[in-house]
Amino acid sequence: MRVLFVCLGNICRSPTAEGVLRHKLREAGLAGQVQVDSAGTGDWHVGKAPDARTRVAAQRRGYDLSQLRARQVEVDDFGHFDLVLAMDESNLANLHRLRPGNAAAELDLFLRRYQLELDEVPDPYYGGEAGFEQVLDLVEQACDALILEIKGRL
Ligand code: 4NP
Repeated sequence: MRVLFVCLGNICRSPTAEGVLRHKLREAGLAGQVQVDSAGTGDWHVGKAPDARTRVAAQRRGYDLSQLRARQVEVDDFGHFDLVLAMDESNLANLHRLRPGNAAAELDLFLRRYQLELDEVPDPYYGGEAGFEQVLDLVEQACDALILEIKGRL
């Protein structure tokens, strides 16, 4: 199974989701059965490591994001991944526009899929430290639900 997380810059929310899911898959003994990646709808940060604030907040909870590098989502992703999960409605709308009509990939809003209290992961980029903690709180909850879905699908 192949899962792609998508946000705007691929330096805050979607790399957090990638790192958290990778960690939880390892804990569940499923790392070898699921391919995980992340990408941004925008291209401003292509090639960069995750934002330092994102890396520090994630490291405090035991997630190492240092090896990740930003890339932009591409049309071929819709042929490669089974599940493409957007962090907010704007990312989702852009992905719907990019998605070829015959694409196999399922496209959904990450938090709404698992009925969390919010539908969107708020963009933390222009805010303070609390926003990065909120991203982690939401992503951890949704990844627990995603792990259950993955176990049911494998
Ligand atoms: P992300 O956060 O989409 O969670 O990676 C952002 C990163 C950069 C920008 C906006 C959001 N930016 O405007 O550069």
